[in-house]
Amino acid sequence: MNNPLALLIVISATVALTVTTPAAGNTENAEGKVDAAMADTAAGEKLYRKSCRACHGRTGKGLSSYPKLLGQSVEYLVDRLERYRKGEKFGPNTPLMAPNAKKLSDEDIVNLSVFIASFE
Ligand code: HEC
Repeated sequence: MNNPLALLIVISATVALTVTTPAAGNTENAEGKVDAAMADTAAGEKLYRKSCRACHGRTGKGLSSYPKLLGQSVEYLVDRLERYRKGEKFGPNTPLMAPNAKKLSDEDIVNLSVFIASFE
């Protein structure tokens, strides 16, 4: 999508779909679903550049054993990051990824996931 207006429409539509009654400091809505409207994507971008980009690439395209994040949904990304943080093992390279998830707060995870899901 190269048209910034089209992107804006998609973002507004996504935000409109997820807007609920926000509780202060809470990035999940009443159903426990991630509320993209509550995310601070600028903070997500900053953190991604600092802690994730070296392995997953500038636009999440991945490289060899570093998986592609491009195209994953916010829900999927949040779920994976929470589970890596908990110490769950996925692929053979979990030890490379797990330390990066350990230091993330719930808020960091939502901010990062909403930012990553905007890659195209
Ligand atoms: C040292 C390199 C490295 C860094 C830094 C890193 N990752 Fe990863 N990441 C990996 C590897 C390797 C895997 C696959 C691990 C496995 O085999 O389970 C992975 C997996 C993931 C997955 C799961 C992908 C999938 O398809 O299920 C997500 C999401 C993810 N990383 C997000 C992040 C985020 C967000 C950051 C920054 C906070 C980050 N990673 C930092 C190497 C890294």
